[in-house]
Amino acid sequence: MVTSYDVKDLGLAESGGLRIEYSGHHMPVLRLLAERFAKEKPLTGVRIGACLHVTTETANLMQVLKAGGAEVALCASNPLSTQDDVAAWLAVVLEIPVFAIKGEDNDTYYQHLESVIATAPQISMDDGCDLVFTLHEKHPEMLPSMLGGLEETTTGVIRLRAMEKRGALAYPVVAVNDADTKHLFDNRYGTGQSTIDGIVRATNILLAGRKVVVCGYGWCGRGVAMRARGMGAVVAVCEVDPLRALEAAMDGHLVMPVADAARWGDLFVTLTGDCAVLRREHFEVMKDGAVLCNSGHFDVEIDIPALRDMAQSVRRVRPMTDEFLLSDGRRIYLLGEGRLVNLAAAEGHPASVMDMSFANQALCAAYLAREGGSLERRVYRVPQEIDSEVARLKLAAMGITIDALTPEQEKYLADYQSGT
Ligand SMILES: NC(=O)c1ccc[n+]([C@@H]2O[C@H](COP(=O)([O-])OP(=O)(O)OC[C@H]3O[C@@H](n4cnc5c(N)ncnc54)[C@H](O)[C@@H]3O)[C@@H](O)[C@H]2O)c1
Repeated sequence: MVTSYDVKDLGLAESGGLRIEYSGHHMPVLRLLAERFAKEKPLTGVRIGACLHVTTETANLMQVLKAGGAEVALCASNPLSTQDDVAAWLAVVLEIPVFAIKGEDNDTYYQHLESVIATAPQISMDDGCDLVFTLHEKHPEMLPSMLGGLEETTTGVIRLRAMEKRGALAYPVVAVNDADTKHLFDNRYGTGQSTIDGIVRATNILLAGRKVVVCGYGWCGRGVAMRARGMGAVVAVCEVDPLRALEAAMDGHLVMPVADAARWGDLFVTLTGDCAVLRREHFEVMKDGAVLCNSGHFDVEIDIPALRDMAQSVRRVRPMTDEFLLSDGRRIYLLGEGRLVNLAAAEGHPASVMDMSFANQALCAAYLAREGGSLERRVYRVPQEIDSEVARLKLAAMGITIDALTPEQEKYLADYQSGT
């Protein structure tokens, strides 16, 4: 067993192992990469510091990286997203340094980041940019030896692009989130399903006939709106981008400003990557019994301090469901403490979609190990060959074959002279 770790209870390792094995069966692309990495060892001697949601799927990724020869250390990318049995298994069986406890306070969260940084990583693997940011802020002496970084989510990529623009980014980072085989599937179908899963596990409410407000119609918002409607909810979308608002309208959803939606909705889900999307003026007009949750990366989309300030009392009425009793007698329910509801109240995305996201992570880690030294201090797209390979492998694993262009079609598509 590894000597350096901070997990809740090592005794949970066995049950974690069973769940990790089970999700591995739904990750055929990653399994294939594990075999390939074990033979080719593309990560030999490379130290990877990972700050990811510590779930069964992440444990499968850690196995691939280790099979490829990497030395990996892992901490949580959110205080509520750790699965304690998985963390235990990683320490006891995979023997990697792991620092993650579900419900850890903010100080512990940042201490855990420091513990990963203490392993002197050469590649950072982030979900939300906290590791990159801490390295830049607190450990500038380590930056020159970094081969590169990998970023899993939209919010992290937004922050990295801001760093790049201001000339503050000190090493190359690959925006894994922006691979087509990541955001088109993970953000849309993964967040779509697992956010509903988190809401239902936390509340056990019936979605049929319920008025659901989705704030943000990006890849995640589209997924949640689509799945909520599929379960019989009436969906209203709130947006700031005219194109996305138009798309929501033509997808058949109601579109309205959040000030109107606040009076109308029964259940509110934020997925904007923005702050203070739901705030005091909205809480003031919400119905008695309104349910609020967030599935965007940080817990700033709902103004929780304002809600707390308005409440006479707060009590936990079910796991991950807090009831705020307001002075006029209305009750507002907040799920998962305003943190990612799909990870706080459920298990995050299903393994079969993380299969693609994490195949991108593994292949991009190998790419950085190979090419990192020659890249500039920029945010890079995932190389097209990697994106296409992940799609090809996933299709094959699903038993789906597709057509290939005939020579005549190839010629036709390259031509501009033939017409009617
Ligand atoms: N829950 C999860 O497991 C999970 C998975 C992937 C991504 N995420 C996170 O979810 C968030 C959204 O990701 P995405 O890929 O859909 O991003 P995106 O950029 O595709 O979409 C965000 C949308 O929110 C809109 N928006 C911004 N501010 C707004 C406001 N004040 N009111 C209304 N709309 C607003 C934007 O116009 C945009 O259309 C990010 O924080 C991302 O990191 C969470």
